[in-house]
Amino acid sequence: MRYTGIIGGLVGVVMVLYSCTRKEPVEALLQPEELTAAPVGFPPVPFPADNPFTIRKWELGKKLFYDNVLSVDNSINCGSCHHPALAFSDAVPKSLGAGNTVGKRNSPSLANVAYHPYYTREGGVPTLEMQILVPIQEHDEFNFNIVEIADRLKQIPEYVAMSKEIFDRLPDPYVITRAIATFERTLISGNSNYDKYLYQSYTSILSPAEKRGINLFYSTRTNCGNCHSGFNFTNYSFQNNGLYEVYTDNGRERLTNNSADNALFKVPSLRNIALTAPYMHDGSMATLHDVVEHYNLGGKPHPNKSPMLQPLGLTTDEKEDLIAFLQTLTDVTFTSNKNLQNEP
Ligand code: HEC
Ligand code: HEC
Repeated sequence: MRYTGIIGGLVGVVMVLYSCTRKEPVEALLQPEELTAAPVGFPPVPFPADNPFTIRKWELGKKLFYDNVLSVDNSINCGSCHHPALAFSDAVPKSLGAGNTVGKRNSPSLANVAYHPYYTREGGVPTLEMQILVPIQEHDEFNFNIVEIADRLKQIPEYVAMSKEIFDRLPDPYVITRAIATFERTLISGNSNYDKYLYQSYTSILSPAEKRGINLFYSTRTNCGNCHSGFNFTNYSFQNNGLYEVYTDNGRERLTNNSADNALFKVPSLRNIALTAPYMHDGSMATLHDVVEHYNLGGKPHPNKSPMLQPLGLTTDEKEDLIAFLQTLTDVTFTSNKNLQNEP
């Protein structure tokens, strides 16, 4: 205790001296390109014509994303379940909502959500603007309603001023959904070691094990790359990967009422996968080892299980190679990007 006190004091003195001698850096203004540029190998980030990007709209969206004002008891915000350091996912099987109620599903990463053709695991929500209404109204998330949120925001001078400046109107559902969606579209991740290897000619950045893992992932033996395809490692199709014989969560059937859709879930992106544990729609798998072992056994029998899932007979070394590859999809420039994090 005494030592930490002394060290803390010294650090304090040094910091004061430093801040007296140091020249204040000129605050660099954020440029739109820093937030909206697509990484090498990616198509342009889609901003819809009826909600184009502006810096001020993005600033408002970011402020709302991290503001507890959105939850009924002022206890949580979007970032509570979508943490920057975890690639905008969270670390529990099922997220806790307002009043600590346990939710129904695992919180997915928001990396590259701009590119998704539809949202949630059953794909029932067509745009990011509309998706924002889901957590706000879900009883086990914010348990609130957007009209009441707008009323709260109208009492906060800073929100009123920003809303008038950007949208020429008072805070309302239109303002809230457009601003937050604009912030979400800038959650772009495409600078992992795998990207550097593939698109930026850093051929020596990957180890032999990681390269063997790539070949396995894209082989007809494992079929991983058939569902987890393209620059975002998903083809956005709805598939059953044999997690259970009987599911408590009916997946896409909830939306379509068609038993052929029972237990189908949107193929998740694998970007930053090493940071987004636990895995699957219900967070039932704790580690990538569990996931790879699951695929190795071919999944449990389910009438809708994809025929692409078969027992793989991977050796211990091959499983390690596959995991080594999955770990190359971590993008620290994304997870440590201060622009995307809450202000201190
Ligand atoms: C209590 C935890 C919690 C909070 C708070 C929360 N989310 Fe989520 N979010 C989830 C869960 C769980 C899912 C998965 C829902 C599903 O698939 O049915 C999800 C899904 C999403 C998706 C869809 C991703 C995809 O792959 O389809 C987006 C986008 C999203 N959230 C954005 C937000 C925004 C914006 C906020 C704040 C307005 C927010 N979330 C607040 C837990 C949360
Ligand atoms: C038939 C399509 C399909 C194939 C083939 C497939 N997956 Fe998946 N994968 C899915 C679906 C669907 C889910 C989500 C299931 C759920 O949420 O219950 C998933 C989930 C995952 C997850 C967890 C993602 C998360 O965020 O929770 C990982 C990791 C994964 N797959 C890796 C692989 C690997 C490695 C292979 C090859 C051995 C593979 N997948 C083959 C469809 C597929």
